[in-house]
Amino acid sequence: MFCFKRICLATALFLFSCVVSAQENLARTPPMGWNSWNHFFQRVTDADVRAAADAMVATGMRDAGYVYVNIDDGWQGERRPDGTIQSNDRFPDMKALADYVHAKGLKLGIYSSPGPKTCAKFEGSYGHEAQDARTYAAWGVDYLKYDLCSFGAMLQTAGNGNAASPAAVALQKQAYRKMHDALVATGRPIVFSLCQYGMSNVWEWGPDVGGNLWRTTGDISDKYDRMSLIGFEQAGLSRYARPGHWNDPDMLEIGNGGMTLDEYKTHMSLWAILAAPLLAGNDLSKVTPEHLAILENKNAIAIDQDPLGKQGDRISALGPYEVWTKPMANGRTAIGLFNRGELAHDMTVDLRLLGVSRNAHVHDVWANADVPYRDVITTLVPKHGVVLLLTTP
Ligand code: GLA
Repeated sequence: MFCFKRICLATALFLFSCVVSAQENLARTPPMGWNSWNHFFQRVTDADVRAAADAMVATGMRDAGYVYVNIDDGWQGERRPDGTIQSNDRFPDMKALADYVHAKGLKLGIYSSPGPKTCAKFEGSYGHEAQDARTYAAWGVDYLKYDLCSFGAMLQTAGNGNAASPAAVALQKQAYRKMHDALVATGRPIVFSLCQYGMSNVWEWGPDVGGNLWRTTGDISDKYDRMSLIGFEQAGLSRYARPGHWNDPDMLEIGNGGMTLDEYKTHMSLWAILAAPLLAGNDLSKVTPEHLAILENKNAIAIDQDPLGKQGDRISALGPYEVWTKPMANGRTAIGLFNRGELAHDMTVDLRLLGVSRNAHVHDVWANADVPYRDVITTLVPKHGVVLLLTTP
């Protein structure tokens, strides 16, 4: 080939920067999809994942924007003698599974750890980062959740018992950066999801190590107390989110059966205002119409996916009554009136103080009804429930 050294170098640099910016261009809005963990835990099978993909098409979830089908912990088998990771018996052919998911217009996600073992004690990627990234790319994986798990013990050692020491934090960043670079090197755009439970202010450095999203909390469960604790403690984090880089307060529990419909509406509303990833965590093949209606609510999804890419935040809290707002494109505003108390209660909001334009169009998202504009709106909010308003100038 006729090629001056400098021209080759310039071409290589150009190609590399294209690959890097492809990675940067991922997740311009918070990722939406489904993840196996909250319902199937480590018992997940190929058949469960295919059933989820089928259901995402049949229920309209895909068309509502849920595109990632993410396999969480439990798919990994032994490594081959050359170190190549293999799936276990419950996943006979990952490439075939990826093809199946892709043929439905969906994308496939997978899960690993920077440590030697994952949280459920399966094989992690420690020492095999580049090799694993290449395997995922060859299978056709589009999303990787990278969960700290056993790497935590290494951080303890590095920090002499303190995983938050500067040396330990540096090591942690290095581990995440290493996998990010390995993913970029494959040339396949793969969303990179950091999972380390919000340690060491990850929101301050998640983007620097290539994270498209980073967990900000410990694990959610299908109980109102846990979901609301996690959701409402996101107050103050809004300035760290932006297109391509999102705070992740963990996956959805809607439809798993442990909360009331009002509580699940709170879950969906709060996650939408937080511009959180919307990863359904239920068995979609058995979803009820009521739960599906919450997951597929067009306005709640539009609030979450708003192109301005700003996370909302709490603007007031009076005992258990909290008001959260999210600024949106074209002067729209989402307003959540949340009642964390044990009895239904009237809540009042002064739209003039929220910068809502006079005579704006006001829509009550869950009632699916327009509300006549008033400067001051008072409305009854159910116990553990929400009134979610969407205003348009
Ligand atoms: C951790 C994560 C969960 C899930 C499990 C899998 O607990 O926070 O979301 O991925 O590991 O073992």
